[in-house]
Amino acid sequence: MPKTIALAGKGGTGKTTIAALIIRSLLKRGAGPLLAIDADPSTNLHLALGLAEPLTVGEIREQMLAEAQQGQLGVSISRHDYLTHEVRLALEEGERVDLLAMGRPEGQGCYCPVNHLLRQIIDDLARTYAYVVVDNEAGMEHISRRTTRDVDLLLIVTDPTLRGLRAAEGIAALASEIEVQVKRMMLIVDRVQGELPTPLQQAIDGLGLEPATLVPADAEVNRLDALGEPLISLDGASPASQAVEAMLDRVLPTL
Ligand SMILES: Nc1ncnc2c1ncn2[C@@H]1O[C@H](COP(=O)(O)OP(=O)(O)OP(=O)(O)O)[C@@H](O)[C@H]1O
Ligand SMILES: [Mg+2]
Repeated sequence: MPKTIALAGKGGTGKTTIAALIIRSLLKRGAGPLLAIDADPSTNLHLALGLAEPLTVGEIREQMLAEAQQGQLGVSISRHDYLTHEVRLALEEGERVDLLAMGRPEGQGCYCPVNHLLRQIIDDLARTYAYVVVDNEAGMEHISRRTTRDVDLLLIVTDPTLRGLRAAEGIAALASEIEVQVKRMMLIVDRVQGELPTPLQQAIDGLGLEPATLVPADAEVNRLDALGEPLISLDGASPASQAVEAMLDRVLPTL
């Protein structure tokens, strides 16, 4: 079974950045094969990974339903086979990491059987990898929709603000309330500049969330982002990538 690492958190806290840095660090230690899942409907993880924009699972679902409605879906092919084929085609194969983008989530109710099939197909696909890294959309929607499932490590990303921490607390509470299998949950504070102010540190300590790491604000991350360059090529000497690497050194052996 693959080890699944998922990222969650308030908008703009650094989930996609940290996801890319985790992938970079896993590749550096030769821990493959690796599947990245972009579970944010506004598909953008491919940019951080330097890959082309993939066709999304949402688009595949819409396409199949449209074809079925117009009677264009052949009878000789099962929906399972059709979707498996399409999902494999949509997989953006990088040199060392493959990417699957989820796209828009399902509408209400009527698509359920298709989603069930898709979940099964994605689970089967994920099983062929050593690591799966899931970059989620902001907020808690994905947790309440239970699209985040069976996670070995849920990293909740916050910025160094009390408001960010409250959001992190809400996500942690929700993740432990519902039947999502999250084996371990940890907090990442991203874009830290210098020492954390005492009240903020106290709030972090009082959160009851195991701290994973503080990721420093890193000018090189900003530079690459501004130029649209993939973060995956971030220099190993950059403070943000070093923090993520050190965190994985500590945490990976325990997963
Ligand atoms: N450690 C860091 N140092 C400098 N800039 C950072 C750092 N982490 C994130 N950023 C910047 O902050 C912005 C938001 O980061 P990112 O897109 O990773 O957040 P997100 O949580 O994925 O956002 P969204 O909720 O929109 O998906 C980006 O411009 C990114 O370059
Ligand atoms: Mg993001």
